[in-house]
Amino acid sequence: MSEGAAKKEERRKFQAIKGTRDLLPPETALWNRVERIAQEVFTSYGFGEIRLPIFEQTDLFARSIGAETDVVSKEMYTFEEKATELPSPRPFFTPRGYTPALEEAFQANPGFNTPENRRRLALLKDHLSTLEQAEVRRDAKASSAAYDHYVAVLETILQGDRVSLRPEATASVCRAYIEHNMQQLPQPVKLYTIGPMFRRERPQKGRYRQFYQIDAEVLGGSDAPGMDAELIEMVMTFFKRLGLEGVELDINSIGDKQCRPKYVELLRAELRKVKDKLGPDSQRRIETNPLRVLDSKLENEQKLIGGMPHIADHLCEECAENYRGVKKELELRGVKYRENWRLVRGLDYYSRTTFEITAKGLGSQNAVCGGGRYDGLMELLGGPPTRATGFAIGEDRLILSLQEAGKRPAAKGRDVYIAWMGEKAYTKAVQAAKNLRAAGFSVELPPVEQKFGKALGQADKLGARYALILGDNEVASGEWTLKTLATGEQAKFTEPTLLDFLQENNAV
Ligand code: HAM
Repeated sequence: MSEGAAKKEERRKFQAIKGTRDLLPPETALWNRVERIAQEVFTSYGFGEIRLPIFEQTDLFARSIGAETDVVSKEMYTFEEKATELPSPRPFFTPRGYTPALEEAFQANPGFNTPENRRRLALLKDHLSTLEQAEVRRDAKASSAAYDHYVAVLETILQGDRVSLRPEATASVCRAYIEHNMQQLPQPVKLYTIGPMFRRERPQKGRYRQFYQIDAEVLGGSDAPGMDAELIEMVMTFFKRLGLEGVELDINSIGDKQCRPKYVELLRAELRKVKDKLGPDSQRRIETNPLRVLDSKLENEQKLIGGMPHIADHLCEECAENYRGVKKELELRGVKYRENWRLVRGLDYYSRTTFEITAKGLGSQNAVCGGGRYDGLMELLGGPPTRATGFAIGEDRLILSLQEAGKRPAAKGRDVYIAWMGEKAYTKAVQAAKNLRAAGFSVELPPVEQKFGKALGQADKLGARYALILGDNEVASGEWTLKTLATGEQAKFTEPTLLDFLQENNAV
């Protein structure tokens, strides 16, 4: 590298972090349009907006999404929050010395004084006393076991104080539903939220570490199939309004806690028989989460997986009935779907209906929306038994697909560029800019004087539709010159007639 290049490199050392990106105009106009239409469509289905924090306790995501899932085990951005205020147990500590210090810290910080933490502290004290008794008896085995138990509880206390950037929104929506006693509102409660999510994934086209979701959740009420079908109808209507191309909906039912465990065992047994022919990821998943093997995209595994038992043949009668109902309700609404028995989704909270929507122009990351029913989640988080269903759209992918189909926002230039010369003209120009903007026009007012020729060139570059020419002559006569840049036509107006003309010509 030449010295100059090295210097330039040195100066340019800040870049957006891998997997994150800046969204710039005019592209952001498309983002705004997408979000505005989402708000319109969702509002017409009775949804209200919820705005959520970007980070939450790590435990909320671990419990909801599942500790074994890729999202939680590998992809979360986690950091310590309140734990920094607790006395650090590292590098060496003794439970006897540490327990009172911890208790003191709990008392000093009301934030720690939760029922969960009080229970954990009591457990720590129990383990400490077992440990001390074992030491008196010189029972090395019992003392080492008590120490291990102590450390395990301590780790959950410290873990509970970890926070993570949200990888998705469903867990937070449920947390908010419980926290604000929304079960007391008329059910179901329909909420949507739009914002960034964070997953440490390998970046590629359509896959980012900071990405955006448009998320909608229906909480409470019944599990009537019409509920899932209406939700799916809503997202399909939204995509249609946007003109999204090649939209395909896949649906499945993954049963509930009655019937799914039996199917999972059957699947595990069948997969074990062909274990040697599967790759290391699938081999591991046979034990941790066999359903996820069905998700495999590996070419050489497809044939084997194709021969596995289908969950549809192992649903209990209630789930089978519910699934038939969802399909009937979709047909009633004219929503076309494809059944895909391998659609299991990567998050643990689902039961019964799951669905995914793909769109054109996205390559391998072509899922633009994913969702399903999650009836057990609210209880898992300590809330009342609550049925729920929802989806999240990957907004980045939605925009990519729209762009690939040529739906780029026209770079909207200014409506009016004010070319002014002279101090008096400037005073008028400042007023005119204010008035035109108040009337809804986009106006560019150069802050320093320019020759008219240069100003008109600048107006052209910015894509302005009109140039308003204000010089000494115009100010003296009260007649302003308006030039239509595309045609070069010029006309004279007084200030009020200028406004009328622009409004009639619909420049807003
Ligand atoms: P998910 O399938 O993990 O579901 O994500 C939903 C959508 O977010 C995906 O279909 C995809 O379009 C987008 N997405 C996910 N990860 C990335 C990434 N790294 N880069 C770009 N886009 C991405 C959920 O998140 C569930 N919470 C959906 C849900 C709501 N289920 C019930 N309610």
